[in-house]
Amino acid sequence: MSSSAHPSRIALVTGGIGGLGTEICRQLATAGCRVIAVDLASRDERVAAFHAEVAGFDGAISFEAADVSDFDRCKQLVERIEQQYGSVDIVVNAAGITRDASLRKMTPQQWHELMHVNLDGVFNLCRNAIEGMLTRGFGRIVNISSVNGQTGQFGQTNYSAAKAGVHGFTMALARETARKGITVNTVSPGYCDTPMVAAVSPEIRAQIVAGIPVGRLGSPADIARAVAFLAADDAGYITGANLPVNGGYFMSF
Ligand code: CAA
Repeated sequence: MSSSAHPSRIALVTGGIGGLGTEICRQLATAGCRVIAVDLASRDERVAAFHAEVAGFDGAISFEAADVSDFDRCKQLVERIEQQYGSVDIVVNAAGITRDASLRKMTPQQWHELMHVNLDGVFNLCRNAIEGMLTRGFGRIVNISSVNGQTGQFGQTNYSAAKAGVHGFTMALARETARKGITVNTVSPGYCDTPMVAAVSPEIRAQIVAGIPVGRLGSPADIARAVAFLAADDAGYITGANLPVNGGYFMSF
């Protein structure tokens, strides 16, 4: 990806200090964007590590604390970035949590917590960023879904529902904005080398890896490259699409 494809765009990445988010920030900064990583302030230790990990980017990546499940905080956040940097050109919704349990054991709290972050968060950011994108006639939105939204996974009725919902949202918003210079796409990672996947029991994880044709977990860079591709200025003819990056774990047409 050449840096000219992202000429000084302002990119906001939710879940920006997370397993995938950190690498997405790095790839976008490498491509020439000014990147704002958004995540929970409560992840204190992780915030400190993140600053060290992006120190080589000469201030092109900064951190803003916000809870994506809070609409008003997202509104303030977008307003603040637009004031400070002039625009929000790229939004990557990578904030996501798991609350795995089979449905017979799942509590309403596990259902709602997950929906608030994984699905409401996408609405909260997009709803607040869309007006500026429409006014400026340019925008790139990349929503992170999951292979488990496409296939369903044992113990993930909440996660699979939210991630399938993310792509429905993507397609609907893509139609609303297609004539306005804005693209809206989904990237659906498979199982990647992140803390989220590390939390799955070793036996189940081993079974899953055995079913991946490429024979390994994905790396955060595998996902981040796909995001940067869709976020580029010259990706303007791809909208409403889902880009699976899963090592062949789920193939479809
Ligand atoms: N597949 C098939 N059967 C399973 C199963 C599975 N994954 N997990 C449990 N079972 C079976 C058990 O063998 C047991 O069978 P019997 O009743 O015949 O003995 C029964 O289901 C137990 O059911 P429980 O309701 O008691 O389930 P549990 O509490 O033992 O396990 C779970 C639930 C911990 C959620 C487990 O199913 C699991 O770890 N599932 C995988 C979750 C997963 O892959 N999460 C992905 C996280 S990473 C991510 O989400 C990133 C991404 O986008 C890819």
